[in-house]
Amino acid sequence: MSSVLVLNGPNLGRLGTREPDVYGSGTLAELRELLQSDAAETAIDLRQTDDEAELLRWLHESADSGAPVILNAGAWTHYSFALRDAVALVTKAGGTVIEVHLSNPHAREEFRHTSVITAVATGVIAGLGFEGYRLALAYILRNPSVIR
Ligand code: DQA
Repeated sequence: MSSVLVLNGPNLGRLGTREPDVYGSGTLAELRELLQSDAAETAIDLRQTDDEAELLRWLHESADSGAPVILNAGAWTHYSFALRDAVALVTKAGGTVIEVHLSNPHAREEFRHTSVITAVATGVIAGLGFEGYRLALAYILRNPSVIR
């Protein structure tokens, strides 16, 4: 069975109780269920880490396996050049990384207006809450060449 990696960075394990006015009240476990119910024949491999090195290893795993990635890198989005290099390593080898954000960073503090990964990501969806992850997944499922 092919799989899609749904990778979540720092503080996203606290979804449900973390600033629900900004991020909504759904948890990552609920997100996993929602995505799996959309995916049918494709396995949703949803992970979260507060350890940047672990996220880098997961992206390397995608570079090796070809599994497409839906990535919410949290605050690392705004300043981690190591993360940018890892995303580029996947996409420049023909893989897919869709950057997602629950909130719309451009409508928030100025430091959130910069993403160091957008330029090397396949695409970006922001501001639509869990719907953004669902739309990213729909894109992947509708484009079978993306699943390798
Ligand atoms: C976020 C936006 C980031 O600025 C923030 O640091 C997060 C979550 C989002 O999903 O809206 O942790 O990526």
